[in-house]
Amino acid sequence: MIQTEDMEFAPRVISPENSAEDNEIERGLRPQTLHEYIGQDKVKENLAICIEAAKRRQEPLDHVLLYGPPGLGKTTLSAIIAHEMGVNLRITTGPAIEKPGDLVSLLTSLSENDVLFIDEIHRLSRAVEEILYPALEDRVIDIIIGKGPSARSIRMDLKPFTLIGATTRAGQLSSPLRDRFGVIQRLELYSKEHLTDIVRRSSMILGIPCTTDGAAEIAGRARGTPRIANRLLKRVRDFADVIGNGEITQQIASIALSRLEIDALGLDSLDRRMLEMIIKGYGGGPVGLETLASAIGEESVTLEDVCEPFLMQLGFLGRTPRGRCATKLAYEHLGFKTPEESAADDGQLTL
Ligand code: ADE
Repeated sequence: MIQTEDMEFAPRVISPENSAEDNEIERGLRPQTLHEYIGQDKVKENLAICIEAAKRRQEPLDHVLLYGPPGLGKTTLSAIIAHEMGVNLRITTGPAIEKPGDLVSLLTSLSENDVLFIDEIHRLSRAVEEILYPALEDRVIDIIIGKGPSARSIRMDLKPFTLIGATTRAGQLSSPLRDRFGVIQRLELYSKEHLTDIVRRSSMILGIPCTTDGAAEIAGRARGTPRIANRLLKRVRDFADVIGNGEITQQIASIALSRLEIDALGLDSLDRRMLEMIIKGYGGGPVGLETLASAIGEESVTLEDVCEPFLMQLGFLGRTPRGRCATKLAYEHLGFKTPEESAADDGQLTL
């Protein structure tokens, strides 16, 4: 059984953040077993061994921390883990657990060996985190009863359980919390081949005719992220229905994605604005993240969590202690001359 708290709406077609529509799409597309799950091979192998070992010992799985950019399947993996272990999954997020009491009622309502999934675990408050430490380490919670001098602390035993924490920012986790996870796995952006397989699988489940080339075109522009690939599949299907015969071909996908302002490498207007500002506004960098974010009117966390992993994977962005820099590849992709090329041109003109 899966219980989910509400997720927020995200307007960008290429944003990896979760939206209400994504929840609906993903619910039907989510693989249920590690075998069905495409990509993240190392993570899958490691989890398969831990799950098998825990099952043989008839113990709960050790606490798991999954980290990496949004949209890569952290929630999906936690549902698979619960399914493979044959236990219930409770899903919540760091900001939804406002008070220590909220966490106490969550923990005490778990059945034996259940999985509690906390997304955005880096956003737990300090007071809530402190309840979590003894819960993770010794399966106990300390509850304070009463106030002032008559306040007493009572210790309550918990049933064995597994916490799966997910975060886009492992660096923001306090070390006492990080140290209490026995299994720490980083999810990577997906290869185009794995994303093509995911698009083909999703199109089959949704009954959308799609050629392999069509799936590859969508995959190539989905910035390494299954959530984006599945969202683009639905948008491209609209174009295939209206301007084609319903089948997603490479040509239809290419037209549709260009109309959605997603370029051949999957950059959207925000990625381009970010790079253009570094190049035109700051001579290619370095420029500090906060300065850059306010120059383009975007939140720095969005640039850091969403744009940067992808632009760095493409080799378009460098991060230095003094700030962000656009690389030669970024200049070329956006059709700008590098400072060296401009200087050489100026030299030729003055000769
Ligand atoms: N749908 C979304 N992510 C997936 C994955 N990694 N494997 C299979 N289907 C998916």
